[in-house]
Amino acid sequence: MTATIPAAPGTAPGSVPTSAPTLPSAAGRGSYWITTFGCQMNKADSERMAGILEAMGYWPGVDEHSADLVLYNTCTIRDNAEQKVYSYVGRQAQRKRSNPHLTLVVAGCVAQQEGESLLRRVPELDLVMGPQHANRLDTLLAQVEQGQQVVATGEHHILEDITTARRDSSVCGWVNVIYGCNERCTYCVVPSVRGQEQSRLPEAIRLEMEGLAARGFKEITLLGQNIDAYGRDLPGITPEGRRAHTLTDLLHLVHDVAGIERIRFATSHPRYFTERLIDACAALPKLCEHFHIPFQSGDDAVLRAMARGYTVDRYRRIVARIRERMPDAAISADVIVAFPGETDAQYRRTLDLIEELGFDAVNTAAYSPRPNTPAADWPDQLPEAVKVERLRELNALVEAKARERSARYAGRLEQILVEGNNPKDPAQVMGRTRTNRLTFFPGRRSDGTAILPGELVDVRIGEVRAFSLSGTLA
Ligand code: SAH
Ligand code: SF4
Ligand code: F3S
Repeated sequence: MTATIPAAPGTAPGSVPTSAPTLPSAAGRGSYWITTFGCQMNKADSERMAGILEAMGYWPGVDEHSADLVLYNTCTIRDNAEQKVYSYVGRQAQRKRSNPHLTLVVAGCVAQQEGESLLRRVPELDLVMGPQHANRLDTLLAQVEQGQQVVATGEHHILEDITTARRDSSVCGWVNVIYGCNERCTYCVVPSVRGQEQSRLPEAIRLEMEGLAARGFKEITLLGQNIDAYGRDLPGITPEGRRAHTLTDLLHLVHDVAGIERIRFATSHPRYFTERLIDACAALPKLCEHFHIPFQSGDDAVLRAMARGYTVDRYRRIVARIRERMPDAAISADVIVAFPGETDAQYRRTLDLIEELGFDAVNTAAYSPRPNTPAADWPDQLPEAVKVERLRELNALVEAKARERSARYAGRLEQILVEGNNPKDPAQVMGRTRTNRLTFFPGRRSDGTAILPGELVDVRIGEVRAFSLSGTLA
């Protein structure tokens, strides 16, 4: 569903003379700027929306203060992410008052959460669109060009993307495989803003990967909020009585796309992560030995209150199985501290699990109450001071453990896929190990030739840091 509201007086395009730096020309519509907040899903959506804008005749602007169209692709996973959006949008709203030709778009998860109330809060906005509408940006902007303010937040069947995304990298590409999330973790806003699970057809995913390979991409990350759920909304049963479409089957199907050297996937859910999947990852050579499996808490009672649907022991068994099959695998996770009612002892169990399992990286967060989530209404919310202190202690442990994990690379020969220059040192290039450690090394061979993005090279690791490595070409 798309709701449209007549434009407020004075905000209709063309109603006030403008001194915009770049007026829409005959050749195109103007410049655009996209700022992306949040997760890889949002980044992938932004790339597709940029592709749509360029197909419409917009070109990339130099900054957000002069672009003719500004799009914020927003995140609401925690309150601070949401608040950041309002300050960005507020500044643009002010610019719009002196430049009514500016087109202002808020997309993504805050847009979905707030819908029309966002228009009431910021009447300068032209378009508020939820993530399920990303592929419809051109249709929605056509309505804006007719002078409407548009709100597109209805539950929507995501159309196959027929546009060509404008990808930020020319080496590593994201490919959505499942949109939405059917879980109901009691802290999480994602299901209410991303909607029901919608799996793409395996053939469409493979076709997109073939297209990326033809354009020189070398690494693909398959994306889903709960990627292990892939296929459960698609019809079909195998002769053995299994679901016809699972992530494991998909990996087998796409593995031989010529030109793609590395395949990753994220995010995994411990409840659905199967041994069959682990075995497939061990057997398929392009599957990288890195697994991002959030565990959220090291305490069973907290996991139950979060409605995560697994125990700490199950999580331990998954990690053990991965390490049994792929001893060098990197494992990363997400963790929340100070969930409502979390006692000090329960919090310590999260620290203990990190100590015990030794993660390569952990994304950490203090619990933040979110709209339309059960835990936000629970009475036993913890004070800010507890959140700050637990997070500080946790981060120190995460870094220490990451440093320990990095130590194993010292002196080793690692295969690196070169992604580009080190932004902090143009003489260096950077890429990642198969296990996803960022690695820097000099950008020229001994004969003076440059090492180019997309090359797979062997690097002798010298210096190791908690979250990155440095070395020299072997
Ligand atoms: N689908 C993934 C996570 C998506 S959200 C999963 O199931 O694990 C990314 C991370 O944000 C979560 O893993 C969680 O650690 C964090 N997060 C989500 N909601 C949060 C909240 N209300 N407060 C703090 N952190 C939160
Ligand atoms: Fe949120 Fe849970 Fe879905 Fe992850 S699985 S997106 S944490 S509801
Ligand atoms: Fe944020 Fe939405 Fe992703 S809330 S984490 S951008 S799914």
